[in-house]
Amino acid sequence: MGDKAKIATIIGARPQFIKAATVSRAIGHNSHSTQSQPITEILVHTGQHYDDSMSEVFFRELEIPKPDYNLGIGGGTHGRNTGRMIEAIEAVLIKEKPRWVLVYGDTDSTLAGALAAAKLHIPVAHVEAGLRSYNRIMPEEINRILADQLSTLLFCPTETAIANLKKEGFPNKLTADTEQTIINIGDVMYDAALFYATKSEEKSCIMRTLQLEPKKFVLATIHRAENTDNPERLKGILDALSQIAGEISVILPLHPRTKKQLELLDSSPLAQRSFSITFIEPLGYLDMVMLEKNAKVIITDSGGVQKEAYFHGVPCVTVRNETEWVELIEAGANCLAGTRSKTICEGFQKMKDQTIETTRLYGDGNSAGKIVKLLSKDCWRI
Ligand code: UD1
Ligand code: UDP
Repeated sequence: MGDKAKIATIIGARPQFIKAATVSRAIGHNSHSTQSQPITEILVHTGQHYDDSMSEVFFRELEIPKPDYNLGIGGGTHGRNTGRMIEAIEAVLIKEKPRWVLVYGDTDSTLAGALAAAKLHIPVAHVEAGLRSYNRIMPEEINRILADQLSTLLFCPTETAIANLKKEGFPNKLTADTEQTIINIGDVMYDAALFYATKSEEKSCIMRTLQLEPKKFVLATIHRAENTDNPERLKGILDALSQIAGEISVILPLHPRTKKQLELLDSSPLAQRSFSITFIEPLGYLDMVMLEKNAKVIITDSGGVQKEAYFHGVPCVTVRNETEWVELIEAGANCLAGTRSKTICEGFQKMKDQTIETTRLYGDGNSAGKIVKLLSKDCWRI
C-alpha cells in the first residue's frame, strides 16, 4: 500500500462531535489496514461550541482524538462565524493538503468546511446529506442545501434523503466526466447509540443524582433558533412544559442559546409558571443516553434527539411544524406538535402511552465503517 490517504474532518457543534466519534473510531480501525488504503485523519474543531459541557466533555467521554486544530471561532453571528471559519479552514487545508474534507450535518461549521474545500478543489464528503425541512427560515436548511451542492460524495442517512436529492436534480456533473455520488449509508447516530449504550450503563449515575425512576419523567430539549429567539413562542413552549410538569416531572438540560434567551424574558414565565420544570446544565452524551432510555416521553426540537428517542423505543413529541426525519412520523414514533402551548400538551397526551417498535429505519449500525471504506478507495479523484 502507498502513503496514507489524509482526510480533514471539520467539526464544531455538539451533534458533530457525536457523529464524528463513530467515524474517527472506524478510521482508527482502518489505519493499519492491509486490505484498503490506510487513512489518517486531521481533526479541525472550528470552536463553534466551546463550553466544556458543549464540547470537551464529548471528546473525553467518547474518546475522540484531540483536535489537531482548534480555530476558536464561536459566539458570533452566522455570517461573521462562517466567514472567519472559511478563512481559517482554508489556511489549514492549504497546509495539510488532504485528499478529502469530511463535513457533518448542517451547521455553520459544515458550510464553512465545504466552501473552503470546494474553492481549493478538494473533494468534499458530506455525512447526513439530502435532509430537507423545506423551511428556509432555518439557518440549517441553507447550510445543508449549499453543502450538498458542494459535495462529491453525499452520504445520505435514509431513502427519504436520497429522494430529496433526486427531486433537486442530483447527482450533478462535477466535471465533463465525473459526477456526484449519492448513497444511502445509514445514520452514524445509530452507530453511536448502539456503541455507547453499554458504556452509558456502566458510567452514568444521572438517574441517582437526579433521583429519577424509570418512566416517571419527561425529558425535554429546546434549542432551535426559531423557538428560542421568539419570546412569545418560547413562553408558549415553557407554558406547555409547566403544564405537563403538573402531571409528571419534566427534566430540561438547557442549551446555552436557550439559557441566554430565558434570561432575557421577563421574570414571570420562568419564575412563576415554569417553577415545576427541572432545569439542568447540558449533559454529556452518556448521561443523555441514560435519561433518553428511561424517559416516558421525549419532547424536543432537536434533530438528533428525535432519532435517539426512536432508537431507545421512547415516544417523541417534536416542538416544530416540520421535521427532516419524516419516517419517524410515518412510523407513529414521533408527532409534530407545532410550537403552541395547547398543541404541545395535546401531543404529549397523544404520545404518552404509545409503544414504539424500533426497526431498521437508519441502517445496520455500521454506517461509519462503510463511510471509511468508501473514502479509502482510490477511484474518486476529480
Ligand atoms: C448550532 C447549529 C444547529 C445545531 C446546534 C446543536 C448553526 C446555524 N446551528 O446551533 O444546527 O442544532 O448547534 O446544538 O450552526 N453558546 C455558548 N456556549 C457554547 C455554544 C454556544 O454560550 O458552547 C451560545 C453563544 O452565545 C452562541 C449561541 O449559544 O452565540 C448559539 O450558538 P451557535 O453555535 O451559533 O448556534 P446553536 O444554537 O448552538
Ligand atoms: N445531547 C447531549 N446532551 C444534552 C443534549 C443533547 O449529549 O444535554 C446530545 C443528544 O443526545 C444528541 C445530540 O446531542 O446526540 C443532539 O444535539 P443537539 O440537539 O444540540 O443538535 P441537533 O441534533 O438538533 O442538531
